[in-house]
Amino acid sequence: MRITVIGCGYLGATHAACMADLGHEVLGVDVDQEKTAALAEGRPPFFEPGLARILERGVGTGRLRFTDSYADAAEFGELHFLAVGTPQRPDGRADLRQLTSAVGELAPHLRRPCVVVGKSTVPVGTAEALTGMLRQLAPVGGAASLAWSPEFLREGHAVEDTLRPDRLVIGRAEGDTRSAAALREVYRALVLAGVPTVETDLATAELIKTAANSFLATKISFINAMAEVCEAVGADVGQLADALAHDSRIGGQFLQPGLGFGGGCLPKDIRGFAARAEELGAGRALAFLREVDGINVRRRERLVELTVRACGGTLDGRRIGVWGAAFKPGTDDIRDSPALAVAAALRERGAEVVVYDPRALDNARKTFPGLEYAESATAAAEGTDALLHLTEWREFGAVDPAPLAARVRAARLVDGRPGLDLDRWRGAGWTCDVLGRGEPRPETAVPSPDGKTEVDV
Ligand code: UDX
Repeated sequence: MRITVIGCGYLGATHAACMADLGHEVLGVDVDQEKTAALAEGRPPFFEPGLARILERGVGTGRLRFTDSYADAAEFGELHFLAVGTPQRPDGRADLRQLTSAVGELAPHLRRPCVVVGKSTVPVGTAEALTGMLRQLAPVGGAASLAWSPEFLREGHAVEDTLRPDRLVIGRAEGDTRSAAALREVYRALVLAGVPTVETDLATAELIKTAANSFLATKISFINAMAEVCEAVGADVGQLADALAHDSRIGGQFLQPGLGFGGGCLPKDIRGFAARAEELGAGRALAFLREVDGINVRRRERLVELTVRACGGTLDGRRIGVWGAAFKPGTDDIRDSPALAVAAALRERGAEVVVYDPRALDNARKTFPGLEYAESATAAAEGTDALLHLTEWREFGAVDPAPLAARVRAARLVDGRPGLDLDRWRGAGWTCDVLGRGEPRPETAVPSPDGKTEVDV
C-alpha cells in the first residue's frame, strides 16, 4: 500500500521505517527539514537500537522517502498515519496543536478517498473532533475517513515492538468498514503472524492506550509505595518485589522498585488522562492517578535526601558523581528523566554535580548546561563525595568497584536502580544506601495489642 507517516519523531520515524520493511511504499512527512534530510540519508536523528539498519534498507530500496510537503503526502497516500507529538500543557492537559495543525494542513489537499489513522496518544474524544475537521476541510468531504490505531512501542525496543507488537488496535466509526479493511491490509503480515487484533469504536481505541500506560505507571508506583513502607520499617523492597513476582497473577514486569518512571509518555499520559476524566465528570475514577504521580515524584526527593545524608547532612562543597542521564537505559531520551531531575536538584542545593551517560550526554548538555559532564563512568566518579547510580545501563554493572574506591574522596554509593552487585561494592569498601531498603526507625517498634506502639506507650 502507499502510506504516509506524518511526524517523524521516535514514533513516526520508527513506524515509517517498519512499514517500509513490511513491503509498503512509505512517505515520511515532517516540517523539520533537518530531520527529514537525515532520515532520507538513512540516519536516525536519535538513538534507537536497530532503527538505522531498517531505515537504510528502506531508503536503499526506494520504498521509503521523506518530504516536508503536505500536498505531496496527500497526492501519494492511500492511508495517512498521524504520529505527531502530544506534549503536556502547563495545566497537565495534552497539547493537541501539532495534531490539529497536521490535519489542517493535510485535509485541504485530500482529493480522493483515503483513510487518516491517528497513532498519537490523545485524550478520549479527539478522534471524533478530528473527524469533524476532516469533513469540513477535505474537498471531497466524507471520502476521507478517520480511524485510530494507537501505538504501544517502548523506546529502546521500538523496532521490535512495531514489527512484533503484543496486539493491534483498530478503532473506527460505526459502519466504517473501509478504514478497518485498510488497516488490516497495512498490518496483514502481523495479523498473519498471529498478532491479536482488537477492532473497536474510536473512543475505546483512544482509551486503550491511556489505560495501558496508566496501568504500567500504577504498577511501578505501587512497588515504590511499598518501598516507602520498607524504608520506614527497615525491610527490603527488592526481596518483597521478587516474592510478589512469583505470583503469576501479579507478574514481575514493571514491578522494579527504584527511582520511578520518566520519559515522554508515562508521566504526561497519566496527568492528561486524569485531567480529561475531570472534564468528563469522571474525575473521581482517576483520582488515584494523582497519587501514582505523587509517589513517583517522591522517589526523586527521597534520593536527594539519601544523598544529603550520605554526605554528612550538607551538600556545600560536595562533589557528586551521577551515573545515568537518560530516563531509562537503551535510549538517549532525557525527557522527564528522573536521573537528571535528581542531578539538577542536587546542583540547586549547592553540590558540584558531574554526570556520565553512555548515550544521552549531548541531549543532557543542551538541556542542563549547569551540570558538569564526564566522558566515562570512572571519570564521573573521580574525586567525588558520593556516587549515584540513577539509570541502569549494563555498563555500570561491569565497573569494578575496588579500584574505583581509590579514586573517590569518599566511597559512598547511593543506589536508585537495579543492576549493581551491592555485596561486591560493600566488599570493596563502599557504604551503600539503597532506595527501598531503610534503617528501622524507633517509632516502628513492635505494635502493642491495643494498637499503640511501644513508643506511643
Ligand atoms: C512507555 C510504554 O511502555 C509504551 O507502551 C508506550 O507506548 C510509551 O510509554 P517508554 O516511555 O519507552 O514506554 O518506557 P518504559 O519502558 O515503559 O519505561 C518507563 C519508565 O518506567 C522508565 O523511566 C523506566 O525506568 C521506569 N520503570 C519501568 C520502572 O521504574 N520500573 C519498572 O519496573 C519498569
